[in-house]
Amino acid sequence: MAVGRPLSPYGDGKSLKQHIDAHGGEFSVMPFGKVRAIVVERETRRDVCGLALVLPPGQLIRQYADQGSVAQRSLSVAVAEIDLLAVDPDVRGQGLGTALLSEAEQWLANRKCRVVTAKIARGDFQVMRWYRRRGYLVAAQGEHLCFSMHNVFLDCDDGNDGYQMAIKGLGGTSIRRAQRGSETYVTVEGQKTISADRKAPARSICT
Ligand SMILES: CC(C)(COP(=O)(O)OP(=O)(O)OC[C@H]1O[C@@H](n2cnc3c(N)ncnc32)[C@H](O)[C@@H]1OP(=O)(O)O)[C@@H](O)C(=O)NCCC(=O)NCCS
Repeated sequence: MAVGRPLSPYGDGKSLKQHIDAHGGEFSVMPFGKVRAIVVERETRRDVCGLALVLPPGQLIRQYADQGSVAQRSLSVAVAEIDLLAVDPDVRGQGLGTALLSEAEQWLANRKCRVVTAKIARGDFQVMRWYRRRGYLVAAQGEHLCFSMHNVFLDCDDGNDGYQMAIKGLGGTSIRRAQRGSETYVTVEGQKTISADRKAPARSICT
């Protein structure tokens, strides 16, 4: 398990393991929002065999600094990222991944999160299928996620860093794919198609 890797750019230099040891499964490591780490342990050896890590989209929130702290706070509530979801190979296929994902989504929905994204390594079709079967829409490489909430218009993409976004709506929010000129983008059900002449650059959701 990758529990020893640093939490950068969210943290204060401490590793994820140090945060979990110090605070348990829920802790604040950045100005906007909380991190939730959900762990599955082997009953016999009491070692970790599965982990889900849910974060506010820190990099994205920073990129919206020009919109003010109210907009940033709205973003940190409405959008979340599954930064890590992994189960040890020897215990895969027993429902642990599904249980970790459900627990993460439930926690987020209770906190009024509307849209959750997960990162899938480009071309990992097995994991894409896994997320699709759990209600996620997998964005194509570079495909934008665009929607407005409160007074913020969100426009982001995968940041071209080797991952694609899987996207799901929570708490009754549905996600759909829409057309803008010759391009498609992912948005929230009920939102108008975004005008074809929007020129603002997309921000990156990846951390
Ligand atoms: C994706 C992942 C978290 C799923 O964990 P899991 O505990 O195997 O998940 P589940 O048991 O709930 O579901 C496994 C699926 O594979 C099938 N499966 C059956 N036997 C399996 C086995 N031995 N190994 C893996 N999958 C198996 C299950 O039937 C199920 O299929 P479904 O999607 O059609 O329902 C896990 O494969 C993993 O850690 N992958 C590497 C990390 C990764 O890519 N994470 C996702 C991006 S963050």
